[in-house]
Amino acid sequence: MKPDVILVTRVFPRTQEILEQEFNLLKLYEAADRDAFLKEAAPRARGLATYTAWGADARLIDALPKLEIISHFGVGVDVIDLAAAKKRGIIVTNTPDVLNDCVADTAMSLVLNVMREFPQSEAFMRSGYWASRGAYALTTSVGGKTLGILGLGRIGEAIAKRAQAFGMKIRYHNRTKKNVPFAYDPDPVTLARNSAVLMVTTPGGKQTEKLVGASVLDALGPRGYVVNISRGSVIDEGVLIQYLRERRIAGAGLDVFENEPDVNPEFFALQNAVLYPHVGSSTNETRLAMGMLQVENLRAHFSGKPVLTRVV
Ligand code: 8YV
Repeated sequence: MKPDVILVTRVFPRTQEILEQEFNLLKLYEAADRDAFLKEAAPRARGLATYTAWGADARLIDALPKLEIISHFGVGVDVIDLAAAKKRGIIVTNTPDVLNDCVADTAMSLVLNVMREFPQSEAFMRSGYWASRGAYALTTSVGGKTLGILGLGRIGEAIAKRAQAFGMKIRYHNRTKKNVPFAYDPDPVTLARNSAVLMVTTPGGKQTEKLVGASVLDALGPRGYVVNISRGSVIDEGVLIQYLRERRIAGAGLDVFENEPDVNPEFFALQNAVLYPHVGSSTNETRLAMGMLQVENLRAHFSGKPVLTRVV
């Protein structure tokens, strides 16, 4: 008998195919009546497969008394109520490491793009301004500048490696100091003061909500840049937009936003912001690897083995 696993939304095609083969999939996204679906699934659903922004709140978890495992596609588990899962002894897994390189590539491209204004100079070129207006304005060099990493985890370390290859100096702030060859700052304000670029790589969730606000951006100053590849919730967006508009910081490179995909349209008018639609991990190779890890965790659990990447 295949175990019953609820799938919250349609997922990466290859992952979907494997899930369909190996589990009795209960497709929440096809339910016309969500409550009726959950009532019907409640006596038999032992697994829940969540995906990117489609997580599991306490209400969903509480509706499933037989739930043993939540296997999430994504490294960030801020969309899952971990306390509710923990209370019930439900295992939660995520998909770390396999996405480090892609997310770090994205982060480094935001550093380059926001400092060197490559997207803006490309738009200038396409508008035919080169011949009519002359050369594009001078920008800011990356080499020799200091990158301050706020939240030096596995992704932060992959970014540091790339930034060093571009000639940048690295500093960081974490709640606890790590055994790494980078200068440590005791708080986010000090890190911002000592950095030309502040790289936000903390986890999302309540603990880091609006960690980057006016005091951190003031410390970064009018020549400083902020890049965010973690979660929109970590930066106070209202304050960030104001600081960008008033040029109280030099620029921002953002892959993540507070209310995705409904991004605050005020961002679109800002010439000193480079904006990506949360593409940090979105390559075929990485999404396949993330999906396989999601599947492997379910496989391991339902064959009585320890899961590979347990969060709680
Ligand atoms: C996700 C991410 O795939 O892994 C994460 O936590 O942020 C990305 O890699 C993202 O949720 C896509 O929207």
